[in-house]
Amino acid sequence: MATLVTGGAGYVGSHTVVALCEAGREVVILDDFSNAHPRTVDALGAVVDRRPAVVEGDAGDPAVLEAVFDGHRIDSVVHLAARKSVAESVADPLGYYRSNLGSVIELAAVAVRHRIGRIVFSSSAAVYGTPTEMPVSEDSPTVPQSPYGETKLMGERILADAAAASQLTAVMLRYFNPVGAHPSGLIGEDPSGELSNLVPRIMQVAAGRRDRLEVFGADYATADGTAVRDYVHVTDLAEGHVAALDADISPARSRVYNLGTGSGATVLQVLAAAAETTGLTIPHELAERRPGDVEATWADCSRARAELGWQATRSLHEMLADHWHFARSHPGASGA
Ligand SMILES: NC(=O)c1ccc[n+]([C@@H]2O[C@H](COP(=O)([O-])OP(=O)(O)OC[C@H]3O[C@@H](n4cnc5c(N)ncnc54)[C@H](O)[C@@H]3O)[C@@H](O)[C@H]2O)c1
Repeated sequence: MATLVTGGAGYVGSHTVVALCEAGREVVILDDFSNAHPRTVDALGAVVDRRPAVVEGDAGDPAVLEAVFDGHRIDSVVHLAARKSVAESVADPLGYYRSNLGSVIELAAVAVRHRIGRIVFSSSAAVYGTPTEMPVSEDSPTVPQSPYGETKLMGERILADAAAASQLTAVMLRYFNPVGAHPSGLIGEDPSGELSNLVPRIMQVAAGRRDRLEVFGADYATADGTAVRDYVHVTDLAEGHVAALDADISPARSRVYNLGTGSGATVLQVLAAAAETTGLTIPHELAERRPGDVEATWADCSRARAELGWQATRSLHEMLADHWHFARSHPGASGA
């Protein structure tokens, strides 16, 4: 029996495939390669010693899904495939609702039809919007600030409703800020689209491909005035999916978990840690706040610890060292 991993050629997906294979599971990847390269699948083959089965197609296409479930013995699903740019979702809300929710609905429908036991869904801290209490727990108010965040919250609700009415159980993982790469340096963040997160941009400056890092907002009420986020190693995150597939959530039909480290770092702290890790000077300049940016957010991960037996173990230093290792050895990827 195999686990279907949609978006398995992407950043979090490829590391999740490694974690699943290391846990002894068979994996089938479904990816349309809209934000990934086929070379990631080759690299995965080297990391896990066997090339996972790959289907190229749209996770929102019922015919593609039916063919995948007919052609493979699938017993569980990890659904990562999605468009994920907040800014793009503001410009193209209908495209985001159609793509991100279409895939959730079609996948849930085929999973129910094929009597699949568990679906694990990639959700996001974006569902919380601007947190009113810190750290953010799963019971904190959910007020997404973008169509992207809305698609994640609606995706959770659709799956919870589908699970309540069928044999399916659904586990939603609200990721905080994934950073890092596999320690082998063979897989990492390698999108075909644009890189917009903080650490990839820092790596671009470190590699000399950008003059300086723009730090958006230096007047927040934080330790040094810059925004605080909860950065979590992508390998820790990947291992969270294995725990989520195995977890007994009964008598609930669905359950939501935060995945982060439980502590935050400011932009300037990440920058200083990256300079130390790379041994390079990383010039920066302070810029205006960006509209929509949240001041500070970090996760309360006690539910994942208690119920999934999962806890992030890797430090910010390891995240940056692994990210840099991949970026340096893959010119053109991860901004380097
Ligand atoms: N990276 C983050 O900061 C972050 C944070 C919170 C949540 N998430 C969520 O985690 C998931 C994975 O994110 P990521 O950073 O690995 O992104 P990614 O873009 O690297 O991976 C997504 C993968 O899905 C594929 N894909 C997109 N739409 C598809 C479709 N309709 N059918 C088939 N394949 C499709 C892309 O080609 C890509 O390989 C997404 O659902 C994202 O919203 C990411």
